[in-house]
Amino acid sequence: MLRLAIDFGTSVTKIYKIGSGIVLAEPTCVTVQKETGELRAFGAEAKRLLGKTAELTDVIFPVYEGEIVDERCAAALLEYFLKKVAKRTYGAEALFCVPCACSTQAREKYCRVARSAGLSRVTFAETPYLAVLGQDVPLSESNPVFAIDIGAGKTSCAAFSLDGIIAGLTMNVGGNNMDVHIIDHVAENFNLKIGSLTSEKLKNTVGSLIENDNQSAIVNGRDIATGKPRSVSVSSADILFPIRVYVDKILEYAELVLKKLPAEVSAVMCKNGIYLAGGVTNIAGFADYVADRLQMEAHVGGDAQMAIVLGGGRAVGNAALLKRIEL
Ligand SMILES: Nc1ncnc2c1ncn2[C@@H]1O[C@H](COP(=O)(O)OP(=O)(O)OP(=O)(O)O)[C@@H](O)[C@H]1O
Ligand SMILES: [Mg+2]
Repeated sequence: MLRLAIDFGTSVTKIYKIGSGIVLAEPTCVTVQKETGELRAFGAEAKRLLGKTAELTDVIFPVYEGEIVDERCAAALLEYFLKKVAKRTYGAEALFCVPCACSTQAREKYCRVARSAGLSRVTFAETPYLAVLGQDVPLSESNPVFAIDIGAGKTSCAAFSLDGIIAGLTMNVGGNNMDVHIIDHVAENFNLKIGSLTSEKLKNTVGSLIENDNQSAIVNGRDIATGKPRSVSVSSADILFPIRVYVDKILEYAELVLKKLPAEVSAVMCKNGIYLAGGVTNIAGFADYVADRLQMEAHVGGDAQMAIVLGGGRAVGNAALLKRIEL
């Protein structure tokens, strides 16, 4: 029987298939013809069109800040992804990786979308659990751990054990906020208007929290004064501010969670350190920046962006564990 873990992220959908491993990672994106409502391009092909489509085509991200906002597009996109990873989805079971404290209403949307995409049984688990499982850390009742998942639109942060979440929160902050802020920052400092694909690429290639990091990239855009195409070289230092401002905000919230913990839990947390997951934690120097700010060890194991779905796969493959952590 087909068993899957699905991380239907704001930016990227990842799918883990029991027996195969991670089988898909593609933008959560579709294009829609405005007049007919027809869905044309899906996933990677749709994202490539961002900012380049003519007036009659919309590029839609059906998951916004970690929540499904367009059920029709979400269902069609999920169906497209499922067809890519399995010949038959009838009777398939799926675990959805959802933000911490995902509401009943939000889960009902997932269920409707999953059913309409052909899935039969759906369960849910919160991303902090999966972030830790994805890094091969065993969960127990007596050893609480602390994890942060920073995605494109949502950050979840929680201290928990196998017994449940001790303290946690989610916030609508992530890589997308940084991308938007980088666009404004480049406009102000270089008089250059850049698109969102360029901004994201800039963040992902030269974005860094390491002081004096001197990486740089050439970016192309439109001169704000003349309207003509122009290129400039942008360095890590040039975009440090629009990245750090959101990282600092996230860490302020993480500190709030840490402050809420009972003393015994705090002591264990300090010893265990913090587990990081989500694409944004790939920014150069991220773990060291967090460790310095929170004064505890920060772990990023393997591929941070895939950690959640990998953890989802581990949970789906272990019925007893899944029973303990499912929502
Ligand atoms: N090397 C990198 N440096 C900085 N940011 C990165 C890097 N790689 C990916 N990202 C960013 O990580 C985000 C995507 O991460 P992830 O796949 O964890 O998010 P998501 O699951 O789609 O979103 P969410 O969890 O918010 O619903 C995007 O904002 C992307 O630009
Ligand atoms: Mg995510």
